[in-house]
Amino acid sequence: MSGIRLDKVCKNFGATEVIKGIDLEIEPGEFVVLVGPSGCGKSTLLNLIAGLETLTSGNIFIGDRKVNEVPPRDRDIAMVFQSYALYPTKTVRENITFGMETRRIPRDVQDAAVKEFATLLQIDKLLARKPGQLSGGQRQRVAMGRALVRKPDVFLFDEPLSNLDAKLRIEMRTEIKKLHQRLGKTSVYVTHDQIEAMTLATRIAVMDLGHIRQFADPATVYEDPADLFVAGFMGSPPMNMIPGKLVREDGMHVDCGGNGGTPMRFPLPDAIARRVADQEGMDVVLGLRPETIFAAGTELPGPNRYIFERPVVVEEPTGPDTMIVFEIAGLDLIARVRPQDGKPQGTSFRFEVEMDRAKLFDAKTGLRL
Ligand SMILES: Nc1ncnc2c1ncn2[C@@H]1O[C@H](COP(=O)(O)OP(=O)(O)O)[C@@H](O)[C@H]1O
Ligand SMILES: [Mg+2]
Repeated sequence: MSGIRLDKVCKNFGATEVIKGIDLEIEPGEFVVLVGPSGCGKSTLLNLIAGLETLTSGNIFIGDRKVNEVPPRDRDIAMVFQSYALYPTKTVRENITFGMETRRIPRDVQDAAVKEFATLLQIDKLLARKPGQLSGGQRQRVAMGRALVRKPDVFLFDEPLSNLDAKLRIEMRTEIKKLHQRLGKTSVYVTHDQIEAMTLATRIAVMDLGHIRQFADPATVYEDPADLFVAGFMGSPPMNMIPGKLVREDGMHVDCGGNGGTPMRFPLPDAIARRVADQEGMDVVLGLRPETIFAAGTELPGPNRYIFERPVVVEEPTGPDTMIVFEIAGLDLIARVRPQDGKPQGTSFRFEVEMDRAKLFDAKTGLRL
């Protein structure tokens, strides 16, 4: 099995730099997700690995082999796209075996491969049908089967679930994870959906404007975001970001609301305060995830909790949790509370924040402090 290594990879389209010097090392058997907003260069990077685009500069290695000049069909990869492009006049079986047919693979080998993967993908009862007689999810399974039967060294996926409805997307996400657990093949998976990235990846590469902002396992990307971009992109509802200034008064605090709106002074726990002890007056951004703000007294007591009261602006029940929107520093902030703690608009709400889980960023550079 092969890993993948990108070394200072750049790609320009005309005068536009789309991939701006990316280094990335993917271990054999890893499932790496490239995630980022639309247009940040995910597909371009994947196409470079696949050989569907040529490098402007840099090197790409699959295993020990430098593949810069190797055509796609000789890279031992299989790719699954968002639009699965099945042959409409061929049956499911013919769609799956088409590639083997053209490579003149013997019929009994084809049959064995179809049997193995059709069962795995639960399409064994659909082999005689045409794509027009399948649901979107079934068609995506067939497209996956077509990639699997080639038994490639590396799998590349470009938003394979984006065309499916929400329920099916969750089902297929589980299927893809099961497949990877079973086959253990090195995989690179592109998506703009941060939940898909969190659930599937062994490691996530968060991309923005042709750069990788952070490459780490899902828990690290979520709990230790490298900068404001990563912090804001990962998580739904997103992290609350409150601009403020560092002040020292009985320990370090963040003073928010200096430019209007309701002011609030959040005390920083020692672990964070120590890192910024000599930065008094600095412009910072305080990041508080919605799930670290809850109704006061409803969780076990812990150190470094800060309690404050604000009126409810909007109450949004989601079922398992209720979102409470409130205002500080002129911003709409969100707390994720238990459904039974929800209160109607206008009611005063006592919030408790786990300041231990607060993130602090340099307002100028966006970097985590
Ligand atoms: N063949 C091309 N010619 C010119 N520009 C392109 C081409 N392919 C992609 N781009 C541009 O490169 C940027 C990244 O595109 P892409 O890799 O498709 O982004 P993503 O997959 O993250 O949405 C976009 O601004 C897009 O318009
Ligand atoms: Mg894309």
